[in-house]
Amino acid sequence: MRFNVNPANAHDATVVVPGDKSISHRALMLGSIAKGRSDISGFLAGEDCLATLSALESMGVEIERRGDTALTLNGVGLHGLRTPGRPLDMGNSGTAMRLMTGLLAGQIFDATLTGDSSLSGRPMGRVINPLAMMGASIDSADGTPPLTVHGQGALHAIEYDMPVASAQVKSALLLAGLYADGVTTVVEPAVTRDHTERMLESMGVTVSRSNNRISVSGGQELQACDVHVPGDLSSAAFVMLAALLSDNADIVIESVGVNPTRTGVIRILEGMGADINVENPRLFSLEPVADIRVRSSSLRGGPIDPALVSLAIDEFPVLFVAAAAAHGTTTFSGIAELRVKESDRIAAMAAGLREMGIVIEESQDGAVVQGGAFSGADVSSFGDHRIAMSLAVAGARASGPVTIDDVAAVNTSFPGFPLLMRSLGHNIEVDG
Ligand code: S3P
Repeated sequence: MRFNVNPANAHDATVVVPGDKSISHRALMLGSIAKGRSDISGFLAGEDCLATLSALESMGVEIERRGDTALTLNGVGLHGLRTPGRPLDMGNSGTAMRLMTGLLAGQIFDATLTGDSSLSGRPMGRVINPLAMMGASIDSADGTPPLTVHGQGALHAIEYDMPVASAQVKSALLLAGLYADGVTTVVEPAVTRDHTERMLESMGVTVSRSNNRISVSGGQELQACDVHVPGDLSSAAFVMLAALLSDNADIVIESVGVNPTRTGVIRILEGMGADINVENPRLFSLEPVADIRVRSSSLRGGPIDPALVSLAIDEFPVLFVAAAAAHGTTTFSGIAELRVKESDRIAAMAAGLREMGIVIEESQDGAVVQGGAFSGADVSSFGDHRIAMSLAVAGARASGPVTIDDVAAVNTSFPGFPLLMRSLGHNIEVDG
């Protein structure tokens, strides 16, 4: 599947983006091991979350879907999951794979987790090693999927200093910690998204947090609660960029999650001169939500603060587009984690933007981007949803047509992306 993008200017609009991917995964997993029924609305029916949903169904959880974005879960309680009769296919999703590994470590049955070719190359040692310290037994040929988790029942609590800042690793350990004897503590080297902690708290679990230490004691039952999933700020970021790079656009994106552990993208863009207003702040349960208003702006380059990296980890592909469209030079550092996402995102963005006439120098953990003008080109997403959407946003501001290959993965996180971008005035067609 391919995107054909022709130059266009976005116009004034008010839009809603699909539900938050991280919160949708957690609503499914935590709701499944809670006691009682929970209604989930605003759910992201993208392929990643549907992989989690179907894995939980095959472990005996009854899930009733009502339309695309609403569902009811019948939680089975902490010890109610059953052995799945088949390997669990996590598709393209690192979040599904890593959180599920933590959840399975505390069960009393065995299960195998598989993934697509991208996921099968991603590092899982970062969850296997600490879970093994808790007594889990996990087979993997070389630290990558497929993984077979031999459920051990009781795990031992540990205190773990995470070598990399990762919400997926933290969440896997907190989930396993629910099945451990004693208090499991995770120490983060930098703040990462805290949706697991907030949702556990809203389900009645005590989570202690001080500075970068997060602790949970095992054996606590979760009480089901309804979850209203906000719009995904990571998806909103593409619309934000479309507004910023257009002439005279004023775009409002309604009901977007603005959890402070996710808003690095807003802070970085504001530092580059973006006109962004966070309006009408409110809460969906314990998650902060707001409407985000973005007006066309002239962006300027500069050094990007590495302290903001973990708060904007998924937005760097689109931030590379901002840097390429800005006046001057932008320097990214401390972003080595981008090399082990759905693709090597530093290399993928450098390749795509270079084809479009932008000068970029890569290093192992960073990039230097010279602001310039986009030209028409044929580029590839390398099968990565966020690369495809970032290059599509850049393509709209190019001097000629841009085609982007291998874009089917956009459905993992942003079903309806081309339609939504057309509603803003962009000219993007799907081919194949
Ligand atoms: C996620 C955590 C991040 C992020 C991913 C979603 C989560 O991954 O990149 O898209 O839902 O916990 P890491 O924990 O690997 O940084």
